[in-house]
Amino acid sequence: MPRTPEGIRGGVITGWGCALGRETVTNADLERTLDTSDAWIVERTGISARQVGGSTAELSIESGKAALAMSGVDPADIDALVLSTTTPDRNVPATSATVQHALGLRCGAYDINAACSGWVYGLVNANGLIAMGAERVLLIGTDTLSRITDWSDRGTAVLFGDGSGATVIEAGDGPGQLLAWDLDADGSAEDYLYSDFGGYIQMNGKEVFRRAVRIMVDSANKSIEHAGVSLDDVALVVPHQANSRIITAACERLGLPLERAAIVLHRTGNTSSASIPLALVDALDGGRVNDGDVILFVGFGAGMTAASALIRWGGSR
Ligand code: ACO
Repeated sequence: MPRTPEGIRGGVITGWGCALGRETVTNADLERTLDTSDAWIVERTGISARQVGGSTAELSIESGKAALAMSGVDPADIDALVLSTTTPDRNVPATSATVQHALGLRCGAYDINAACSGWVYGLVNANGLIAMGAERVLLIGTDTLSRITDWSDRGTAVLFGDGSGATVIEAGDGPGQLLAWDLDADGSAEDYLYSDFGGYIQMNGKEVFRRAVRIMVDSANKSIEHAGVSLDDVALVVPHQANSRIITAACERLGLPLERAAIVLHRTGNTSSASIPLALVDALDGGRVNDGDVILFVGFGAGMTAASALIRWGGSR
């Protein structure tokens, strides 16, 4: 049922914020500790630098505060906090509980883990809560992958960074922004990308790459079809920021010019749950989004999850 049904109310994004790890790690920094080069990393991934440091709660509090301030919503009026993260600070409780307390929220709070697709899962979740009566939802995507990265493994250390992106989503007077969505997972591919408790990210990069393009394109096409829009209608695509070659290949296969993509990974690296909201915030702050624009979010991640959603910017709020 991925097309938003007629007659239910949906959400409108009214505030946003972001946070990045405090320390910049450039490719030149990595050249000093790994058998790698700036040229290799840029050519194979598109990444020049990443920001690392801070806990998942700290980054979430920073981005959440900024989003709340921008929306003008009193923290006490938020009805639910949804935190997408694959790197919680503790096994128990959920990191969203720490964030809920620090932000002065008085509402339910829970984590969701769908790896790098998590923020899109959260967007669908938040709109579902609003359809069920919630007035205001704080949706945050945060990951601190640097804590589960083996910094002596050149196959993964060059890829990841820490960050957080937050959005306040308020009930609209009408159907809201979400036009259509698609969520997918394929647990049979679990061993291509995983991290055990206390361990580091293990990845079969080639296999992840090969599957990533296919599942992103499949998911995006489903959302586009369900929304009944054409590719020409898509003003901006906000893809998961894993690798510029994956983004380029996915745009090519979708038939979308690369100029319509929001890209921040050259300076952030892959920030998992934060990557799509960070790229969205960059596009919004850069004046790339106008009322009425159709935005396509599309991600993939461990699990192997894939997710896409189409929203129409603006809305009645
Ligand atoms: N610097 C220099 N050389 C390197 C490095 C490095 N950092 N890493 C690997 N190499 C070498 C390899 O050892 C190999 O050498 P060889 O030919 O002598 O054996 C050569 O470069 C080519 O290695 P490949 O693995 O074939 O390189 P590839 O072009 O596949 O790029 C990469 C590797 C960047 C990891 C790519 O496969 C990729 O981006 N995969 C997807 C990763 C991804 O998106 N992960 C998502 C994580 S999302 C989440 O849920 C956390």
